[in-house]
Amino acid sequence: MQVISVYHNKGGVGKTTIAVNLAASLRKGGKKVLLIDLDSQANSTFATGLMKFLFVEDDDLRDNNVYHVLESGDYNFISDIARKSDGFNQPEIDVIPSHINLIEGQYKLNQIGASKTRLVTKLKRVEGEYDIVIIDTPPSRDIYAEIALIAADALLIPSDLKPFANQGLQIVLEFISQINEFRELIGKGELQLLGVVPSKISTNARFLKYAFPKQKDAIVSRYDLPLTESIIFERAVLSQCTSNTIPMGDLEIPEPKSVLEFSPDSQSVGEFEGLTEEILEKMGRMQ
Ligand SMILES: Nc1ncnc2c1ncn2[C@@H]1O[C@H](COP(=O)(O)OP(=O)(O)OP(=O)(O)O)[C@@H](O)[C@H]1O
Ligand SMILES: [Mg+2]
Repeated sequence: MQVISVYHNKGGVGKTTIAVNLAASLRKGGKKVLLIDLDSQANSTFATGLMKFLFVEDDDLRDNNVYHVLESGDYNFISDIARKSDGFNQPEIDVIPSHINLIEGQYKLNQIGASKTRLVTKLKRVEGEYDIVIIDTPPSRDIYAEIALIAADALLIPSDLKPFANQGLQIVLEFISQINEFRELIGKGELQLLGVVPSKISTNARFLKYAFPKQKDAIVSRYDLPLTESIIFERAVLSQCTSNTIPMGDLEIPEPKSVLEFSPDSQSVGEFEGLTEEILEKMGRMQ
């Protein structure tokens, strides 16, 4: 079992889009996949069809989410909290959902040192059940981001390669080095870098010819980070698949799908299959 965290402290760069569709693509390729949502925005939880309720009283995530996995070492194991994605992908994937209550929960977790390693310990118990675990993270440096980077074997950094995302990379690098110090303390090796995935990249021909090569060079020369060969371009299907709905009486019920399910012949699917292959190949070499 290998654990990949998808992280960048810059918001809106495509972390969730990459986490959920990478998970879907790995699952279609026959891998047993667990997706963990560690972001209180719960966008991965929504995107995998686990938040179809429209009213607070129907919220069935409040008492069964990733916070509960983190709050105790003795109970709430992965298998107690994981549920199947719903209408998202064929085959479905297992998901540990998130919840808006994670915001409040972080103060409690911050008081207990063991909170940071509970996910590591609990993931060990399901090593035989999954091939790949993907962790979606918040755009911050809070305890949930720390937990994700401590639990991961490898890190994928989606970036639109724009100036703010690039300046954020300096912070990501400092964060990684602090995480590595902590990992050494707990006898875990250094976090492996799968690299920066160019994400939400414009398909404009002039941009791709003149600006994009320079933006890519900067990642390697200025931040000394590897880039993935795979590129996730900006394509409407990638937001449409998540905002898909179905009518039910007078209501529109969310019916989010992976892009592989929503638009199997789209270019995005080809791009995600390429990314999946590249990641599996890199992870294979790391073992
Ligand atoms: N490649 C893409 N093409 C088109 N739209 C995209 C693409 N990637 C992401 N988006 C859209 O951009 C928005 C932000 O994407 P996403 O939620 O994946 O980013 P994020 O990094 O997870 O954000 P946050 O930091 O808030 O968690 C969403 O509306 C999503 O549908
Ligand atoms: Mg997100």
